[in-house]
Amino acid sequence: MSGEVHVIGHPLVQHKLSLMRSKETSTKSFRNLLREISMLLAYEVCRDLPVTMTPIETPLAKMDAPILDGKKTVLVSILRAGGGILEGMLEILPSARVGHIGLYRDPKTLDAVEYYFKVPAEMTDRDCIVVDPMLATGNSAAAAVARLKATRPRSIKFVCLLTCPEGIQAFHAAHPDVPIYTAAIDERLNEKGYILPGLGDAGDRMFGTK
Ligand code: URA
Repeated sequence: MSGEVHVIGHPLVQHKLSLMRSKETSTKSFRNLLREISMLLAYEVCRDLPVTMTPIETPLAKMDAPILDGKKTVLVSILRAGGGILEGMLEILPSARVGHIGLYRDPKTLDAVEYYFKVPAEMTDRDCIVVDPMLATGNSAAAAVARLKATRPRSIKFVCLLTCPEGIQAFHAAHPDVPIYTAAIDERLNEKGYILPGLGDAGDRMFGTK
């Protein structure tokens, strides 16, 4: 069974992604663009969030109006690059709860090793949106989602900026039930586990660490 993949082809998203890919883009602009693009991704990802008809009063009349239960949504950021998407999404979903999962890639095996895990205490009626800019080998994303599933949330979606066929295949082999939302599917992985043509190391580009 293969899972759902949603490519957000909107020209605003594609334009910002192209600017982010360029090696001429500064750290400051990269961070800004990531925040902006994340708001646009959030708009698509939240398309099917449930709303409750809630009584309100406008200045002229009473009505039942659709209201999101923001607290039911948990944005789960995979450290460290997930923080960039988290920041943008929180502007659109200010009441969302936030979780963090810390994983690093073993440079030899490219396997994911967990060093931090913190999510809200009660997860069973919550909808999780896991964020990480690059779905590359799929190892960290699959490990993060497996760990999250153990808390039994109501639903999980995975959001990235870029992925590649290898990443999608590995992720959906482990989690065919978790839809992927991405701005683009690139050509392939290189031997070091980087996406080509990609945008380089998302964390380094966000934080200027290279
Ligand atoms: N992580 C990154 O930051 N970039 C890649 O291309 C792959 C993984």
